[in-house]
Amino acid sequence: MKASLLILITGLLFGACQNEPGNGSKTEKDSIVMNTSNRPDPHSFTQEARVNHMGLNLKVDFDNKKIAGTAEYTVAANGADKLYLDIDEVKIDKVWWESPDGEKALAFSLSEKETFLGQALIIDLPKGSDKVYVKYETTEGAKALQWLDAQQTAGKKYPFLFTQSQAILARTWIPIQDGPGFRFSYTAIVEVPRGMMALMSASNPTSTVESGLYRFEMKQAVPAYLMAMSVGKLEFRPLGERTGIYAEAELIDKAAYEFAETETMLEAAEKIYGPYAWDRYDMIVLPPSFPFGGMENPRLTFVTPTILAGDRSLTALIAHELAHSWSGNLVTNATWNDFWLNEGFTVYFERRIMEEISDESYANMLALLGHQDLESEVHDLGKDSEDTHLKLHLEGRNPDDGMTDIAYEKGYFLLRLIEEHVGREPFDAFLKAYFKDNSFKTMTTESFLTLLKSKLISSEDYEVLRIDEWVYGAGIPDNCPKVVSDKFEIVESALNDFKSSGNAKAISSTNWTSHEWLHFIRHIDAEINLEKMTKLDNQFNFTHSGNAEIQAAWFEHTIEKGYTNADEAVEEFLIRVGRRKFLMPLYKSLLKADPTGGKANEIYAKARANYHAVSQESIDELLKK
Ligand code: BES
Ligand code: ZN
Repeated sequence: MKASLLILITGLLFGACQNEPGNGSKTEKDSIVMNTSNRPDPHSFTQEARVNHMGLNLKVDFDNKKIAGTAEYTVAANGADKLYLDIDEVKIDKVWWESPDGEKALAFSLSEKETFLGQALIIDLPKGSDKVYVKYETTEGAKALQWLDAQQTAGKKYPFLFTQSQAILARTWIPIQDGPGFRFSYTAIVEVPRGMMALMSASNPTSTVESGLYRFEMKQAVPAYLMAMSVGKLEFRPLGERTGIYAEAELIDKAAYEFAETETMLEAAEKIYGPYAWDRYDMIVLPPSFPFGGMENPRLTFVTPTILAGDRSLTALIAHELAHSWSGNLVTNATWNDFWLNEGFTVYFERRIMEEISDESYANMLALLGHQDLESEVHDLGKDSEDTHLKLHLEGRNPDDGMTDIAYEKGYFLLRLIEEHVGREPFDAFLKAYFKDNSFKTMTTESFLTLLKSKLISSEDYEVLRIDEWVYGAGIPDNCPKVVSDKFEIVESALNDFKSSGNAKAISSTNWTSHEWLHFIRHIDAEINLEKMTKLDNQFNFTHSGNAEIQAAWFEHTIEKGYTNADEAVEEFLIRVGRRKFLMPLYKSLLKADPTGGKANEIYAKARANYHAVSQESIDELLKK
C-alpha cells in the first residue's frame, strides 16, 4: 500500500487548489479526506456520483497544439454532494451550472497530484440540476495526444492528431471518470482547421466538411479508455455494408486492398458470438508513430500502417480489434487488474475468427507464435513473478506495467484449455450467453469464475483443470494445451537443412505466409553465422521486406550478430515506426550488442521526437533517461 493512503486536501491552505471559480462564488475550503482504499477503481478518483452522459464542445488548435472547449456532464449524484473527475495535466478554466437565472459558478478543488494518476477535480454538485459544465484546455503534458507535423504524414501537407486513451490517458485530454467500470454515452461538436476531417469513437462523417465543424454521437455507454479522436487530411472508402476504412489519400488503395476481408470477419464473428452491437465497424490507418498495432475504439478501430504488408497476411490484428467489440467493449474488465478478461478473451475470439475465415492450421500458427510470446514473457518477467498471474495487482502502479503478453496469451491458453475440456459447442453457447447477459456491463475475474462454475463446468472439473492456479498462480501451468502445426514443422526442417547445407536457395518457401517466416526467423540461432545471415538476406531480402513484422524479427538478429548490412535499415525503421511492440525488442537488442547504450541512445536521440508518449515512456525507462 502506498504511503499516501490518506490525502488531506485543504484546498487553499496548502495551495493544492490553484483554480478558483470565477463569478465571486465561494471556494472549497473544507478539508476532504480521500482514502485510496475507498475508491471503486484503484486508478481513478471517482466516487459515488457518476457521469451518465457527456457533451463535448471542442476546438482542435494545431498551431498551439491544444484542444480547448467545454464538457457538459449529466450526473447521477447517488446521494453524494460532490462529483469527482480525473484529470492529468489539464488546465481547468471554470466550472459552473446553468441555473434558472443563468450561469452560476460552482466551487471546485483539485487534489494533490499522485504518480500515474494525476489529480481529482472535485466539484460541488448544484442542488437544482443534474448538469455540470467544465471549461478546460489540454496542455503540453497531455500524454494521450500525439500532434504530428505535416512532414510526419504521408501527404506532407496537413498536420495530424490522434489520441490513445487506454489505459488511463483519457484524463489527459478530457476531465473524465477514467476507470473501465464507469460508462457514459456522449455527443461531441469538434472544430478543426478547414480541409481536415475529424473522427471519433462514435458516428462518423464520410467526407470532409467545408466548415471544419463535425458532430458526433455515441449512443451506447462506453468507458473513458475508449474515448478517441483523430484529425487529419483523410478519405473514406467503404469495404462492405457495415465496414469501411479511413486513411490518407496516399494509403487508401493499399488499405482498402489489405482490409477487404473485414466484412467477412464481421459476419464470421456474429455467427460465433451473436449480433454486433455498434452499428458500423470502420477503421482508420494512422501514421507509423501510432504506439500500438491496433486500438479497439468503438465504431472506429485505430490501426498501425505497419500491417499494410500488401498480401493481407497481418489481418489477424483486425480480427483482434473487431473481437473487442464483444470482449472488452461490450463486456468490460472491471478494473485493470482484470485486464486478461479483455485481452485473453479477445485473442481467443480473434483466433476463432481467423479459423472461420481461413482454417484451423492458420489459427494454430497464430497460437504457436502466441505460445512463443508467452514463454518469452514469462522468461522476461521471471516464472515466479506476480505479474505472470492472470489476476493482477496494479494498485499504486502504472496499469501499463501490467499490460504484458500474460493477459493475452496465458489468457488465451486458459480459454483454449476449457474449450478442449468441455467441447467447442458448449463453450460457444456459454460465451455467447456471457456476451449477451453482460452487455454494457463490467466483469471481474471472480464473477467470471463464478459464472464458469455455475454455467459450464463442475467444481470437480474446475479442480482438474487447476483454474485457480491458472488465474492466481505464476508461470505456465503444465496442463497448458499443446498446439501442433504441420506448417511450422516444415519450416523447422527447412531451417535445419539450411543450417547444415548453408544453401538458402534450397529453402522451398513458396506459399509461406508471414507466420511461417516469423517462425523461421525467430528460430535463427548461434549456428546461423554472418555468412549464413548474408545468404538468407540475399535470397529473401528480409532487411528490406515490405513486411514490418518480418523486418522487426530479423533486425533483432542483425543487431545482435553484428550483421552491419542492415544497420541503415534498422535506423530508418526505428526513426519512422513508433509501434512499441517493435521498439522494445529492438532497443533491447541494441543494448545487448552495445551494453554501454551508445548505439541505442544515438538512434533514440534521432527517433524520440517521432514517438507517442506511451512509447517514449517505455524507451526512456529502458534506456534510463
Ligand atoms: N487494447 C489493445 C491495445 C492496448 C493495450 C492499448 C493496453 C493500451 C494499453 C489492443 O486491442 C491490442 O491488443 N493491440 C495489439 C494487437 C493485437 C493483435 C495483439 C497491439 O497493439 O499489438
Ligand atoms: Zn486487444
